Amino acid sequence: MSTSPAAGPVHTADLVVFGGTGDLSMRKLLPALYHCDRDGRLSPETRVIAMSRGGLADADFRGKVDAEVRDSVPVDDPAVWQRFLGRLHHVSVDVGAPGHPGWRHLAELLAPHEDRDRVFYLASPPRTFGPFCRELAEAGLVTPRSRVVLEKPLGHDLPSAQRINDEVGAIFDERQIFRIDHYLGKETVQNLLVLRFANAFLEPIWNSLWIDHVQITAAETVGTPGRRGYYDHAGALRDMVQNHLLQLLTLTAMEPPAQNDREAIRDEKVKVLQALRPITGTEADRFTVRGQYVGAGDVPGYLDEPGSTPPTESSRRVETFTAIRAEIRNWRWAGVPFYLRTGKRMPYRRSEIVVQFKDVPHSIFPGGSPNRLVLRLQPEEGIELHLMAKEPGAGEVTLKPVPMSLSFGKTFTARVPEAYERLLTDVLAGNPTLFMRRDEVEAAWRWIDPILDAWRAAPALPEPYPAGTTGPAGAHELLGRSGRAWHEEEL
Ligand code: BG6
Repeated sequence: MSTSPAAGPVHTADLVVFGGTGDLSMRKLLPALYHCDRDGRLSPETRVIAMSRGGLADADFRGKVDAEVRDSVPVDDPAVWQRFLGRLHHVSVDVGAPGHPGWRHLAELLAPHEDRDRVFYLASPPRTFGPFCRELAEAGLVTPRSRVVLEKPLGHDLPSAQRINDEVGAIFDERQIFRIDHYLGKETVQNLLVLRFANAFLEPIWNSLWIDHVQITAAETVGTPGRRGYYDHAGALRDMVQNHLLQLLTLTAMEPPAQNDREAIRDEKVKVLQALRPITGTEADRFTVRGQYVGAGDVPGYLDEPGSTPPTESSRRVETFTAIRAEIRNWRWAGVPFYLRTGKRMPYRRSEIVVQFKDVPHSIFPGGSPNRLVLRLQPEEGIELHLMAKEPGAGEVTLKPVPMSLSFGKTFTARVPEAYERLLTDVLAGNPTLFMRRDEVEAAWRWIDPILDAWRAAPALPEPYPAGTTGPAGAHELLGRSGRAWHEEEL
């Protein structure tokens, strides 16, 4: 272990990335690792070993990263970039090829540093998780100081998630398994815990007495070009709700943990998932909405997106948008709906948690509206509290909602790190707090599966919505039925 004055202790590790030349690695992991290196958060000896079927030599891989990643990161000192490239290695291997010489090559690379922390990062399809773990064990590469990182999706339903957990759990202890959800690395998400548990004023009003409802939105402008092979079998519910949105829900709704400790926080999150009221059978018609974008202007619809595979029958049934009214059955939240919403090809990219407070018990001014707390994850991470104020003027009192805002970008001079930087730093240091425990993932699937079953049994296709709009009419009715509206409709 060495020490960087700027960033505290940094741990030396060998990070082995399966799927090391894939999209996630090139777009997220390698840029994040470069930032960690540049900020002094990687020890000089730490190495990154990319595994893929690519048949690349180290020099080829370094050349590829130089060509494809360098322009997406700030290289103010070419020596730092060269130092980063120097950490990179490549080993060719194929899943299900036990005798492949790649395993021997990896073993030779790791052997001189047997006592070093090893992190095996599986950024490969979930069907490879079990086989890769077995191959690692058979090659004698899993040491007591090893950890394994599992990228999403962790299965496509509860039984498949359990199977993966069993397979990986046969090789690694639960304390060595880091299930990643990159939303947990976002700055606002961590700030949500600080806001709730380091400020006294919120806790007394953080309940059904004061809060009318909560909206959790992850809206994206992008579609799914080139991703049909994956997305046809995922859809918005599996791709975004089972993981990211439910994580945001648990952090918003959880009870205060006894300490800022990996198990204490995760224990409280699991209890929220277990308290979610199941949505089964025909209830799905009332509590959930599915949509699929259709072409508008120059923008193609989901079925017309250029894809690696042509559309199939299941493509027509895939939801690219979903909205759900969730309910938490406990003392704090009984009667407070949590509306979850996510969609592709929406008019804006915005992820936020909106806590809508109840109205004043008796209004003496006309035109007021209830307070609202907005936690923005992107773009421009920050927190806004919408208060009622009097518009300046000598005539009648006119009320106007005004935001009290904290923009992280404007308030703090330090660069806001990307989610993967934080998570990679934690995994290299062996801190699992921001990673999901087995029971957490399985509790999330337990709530999602009945919705998937109900959708599968329903004859209707998802409601169409034109690309570039805020989703199908049903999403507006979901709130409209109880006299509520999505946040942006009231801006
Ligand atoms: C990923 C999903 O987990 O999250 C993608 O697979 C989605 O479909 C992405 O686009 C959104 O992440 P972010 O950080 O851009 O909100």
